[in-house]
Amino acid sequence: MSPASNISLPKDLELQQSQFINEKHVSQPNPRSNLRWFFSFLLTIGTFSLIMFTTVFRQGKFNVITEVTENAKLQQICPLGSIIRPQAFLQDNSSLEHIFHDSEYRLDTTKKLSGAVKIPTVAKIGSNPSDESEYEEWDNFVRFHRYLEAQFPELYQTLQVEKLNRFGLLITWKGTSSTDILKPLLLMAHQDVVPIEPATVDQWLYPPFSGEWDDQFLYGRGSSDCKSLVIGYFQAFTKLIQDGFKPQRTVIIALGFDEEIGGSYGAVELANVVRHRYGPDSLFAVLDEGGSSIQLINDGDLAVALPSIGEKGGTNLDIELTTPGGHSSIPPDHTNIGIVADLITVIENDPFPGKLGPKNPTLNHLQCIAKYSTEFDEQLRSDIFNAGKIEDGDSGANSRVIEYLSGIRSLKYNVRTTQAIDIIHGGVKSNALPEYTKITINHRVGFESTVEETIEKIVKNVQTVAKKYQLGLSVVNEAEGAEQTIFEETPNGKFQVLVGFSLKPSRVSPVDNDSFDIFRGTIKHIIKDYVYPDLPSEPVVAGNLNSGNTDTRHYMDLSENIYRFKFSTLNGLVDGGTHGLNEKVKIDDLLGLIGFIYEYVRNVDEFEEY
Ligand SMILES: *[C@@H]1O[C@H](CO)[C@@H](O)[C@H](O)[C@H]1NC(C)=O
Ligand SMILES: *[C@@H]1O[C@H](CO)[C@@H](O)[C@H](O)[C@H]1NC(C)=O
Ligand SMILES: [Zn+2]
Repeated sequence: MSPASNISLPKDLELQQSQFINEKHVSQPNPRSNLRWFFSFLLTIGTFSLIMFTTVFRQGKFNVITEVTENAKLQQICPLGSIIRPQAFLQDNSSLEHIFHDSEYRLDTTKKLSGAVKIPTVAKIGSNPSDESEYEEWDNFVRFHRYLEAQFPELYQTLQVEKLNRFGLLITWKGTSSTDILKPLLLMAHQDVVPIEPATVDQWLYPPFSGEWDDQFLYGRGSSDCKSLVIGYFQAFTKLIQDGFKPQRTVIIALGFDEEIGGSYGAVELANVVRHRYGPDSLFAVLDEGGSSIQLINDGDLAVALPSIGEKGGTNLDIELTTPGGHSSIPPDHTNIGIVADLITVIENDPFPGKLGPKNPTLNHLQCIAKYSTEFDEQLRSDIFNAGKIEDGDSGANSRVIEYLSGIRSLKYNVRTTQAIDIIHGGVKSNALPEYTKITINHRVGFESTVEETIEKIVKNVQTVAKKYQLGLSVVNEAEGAEQTIFEETPNGKFQVLVGFSLKPSRVSPVDNDSFDIFRGTIKHIIKDYVYPDLPSEPVVAGNLNSGNTDTRHYMDLSENIYRFKFSTLNGLVDGGTHGLNEKVKIDDLLGLIGFIYEYVRNVDEFEEY
């Protein structure tokens, strides 16, 4: 069954959307309704562009010169880049042949991942791994480390393995180069997994921690997120060691163990040590999980790989309303809960506006697809190419692209900040008026915005409601220890807005430098030579946006070249059950991942500048 045969454009975009979301519950987009929407849109645009084109042609505005410059511009957009094969591969490809085609190797790799999945490494929120009274909570991580040591003896014997906060693994393969020029390459993943929702255990095909596999897939919690990456790194490194590889450039593996609950003991500490040891901006590149895999478009003729080159920011806001209580037999027209309900309506009726700046990775993603897809509408295509030129006046292209994206649920939020009211608490008794209600709003901050702008918008909404009911209002930023009073408290009560964690949108990794060339070239090498050798067109690599956050946020200052990409032809979130039921990984993908890591390490090592 080929997943490619019936893919049509909007579904491509759905699937290709970078969607590595960390939260437990992920609602699946509904491709069908988008499909319907898209086709009516296509029809409208199609008719529109036909009229436009006829008009333009009649007036003879399309002359040769503009076409030539258009072509030149088009060439600069999302260049294909070259396939990069290590010299060592060109001389002897037997290692890669072994990884991809040896049935014993395949079985051994599958067993190693299966064993890793069998250990339920769920990290417990609020538990400190170094606190002896809580050691029991972390027993599975002790087992997991023992397992890795037993399965990968060459790696443990050859490389320097350090444990930070007991379970953070910092593995260093020191480069042989005596100069300081070569920046280390860092590979990241995490050892923890999300828990199983107890109510859904019987809906699993196999028990979630049994590590079962069939011809095609290996199942279980963590099989995809993220133990496939951990085992992939270890297998690739073991093979490199066995093959006698000695890097000139230092290569580091950093494995957190509490990514799913924020990374405060794992990634934070690992990044601190790396920062202390090598300094800021000291890494050649950082690779972590994420991205939305490799998809086929153009009727299955073209493979598009979708690593993420940037992540949105985020913040949580709590809003509390305190009012006088009383007996519910003589209620006011609006109880505390009623007022908060009003506020919720005001907030939801005032969504964040869509914006698409030239640096938003979504634009790069769209331009790559528009350039290489054969299924694009002409007007939409040209709008996408022109959407980044906001300053020079793009004759509406930017807003048309935003409008187009806004109709696709999975892409809509790539161009705006989100507001999800996720928690509400209020009231205690049916005969007592509520005195206190609290809501929590989670925001993913858009690339074109800031945490400050997000807070400002919500405070404006609260202000409207506070005025209406004559309530006080203050804003408290706990991290900054700041409190600002906007309206003094009144006898009716007061609102308080509390700012929780805040994270600004990440910087965007450049797609026009040597580091990206090597990364892209290696992906293309593996796809072209091993994964889809028979496809007629050369693979495309389209850097895009991660709508959730990974542990890379803790490494942001260590390299400008941060890539989130777990080599895979199966979209973990859409088809792979990441964080959901029947999480699985394709065994072929696991081998693809190992082959990719093996070659990426060698390609980076053969590059002898910075
Ligand atoms: C990446 O590109 C930037 C410019 O975009 C350059 O300053 C930097 O040195 C490059 N880094 C690598 C590792 O290629
Ligand atoms: C590997 O090498 C063999 C022998 O040199 C060659 O026939 C084969 O095409 C190579 N495979 C790839 C994927 O390059
Ligand atoms: Zn993960």
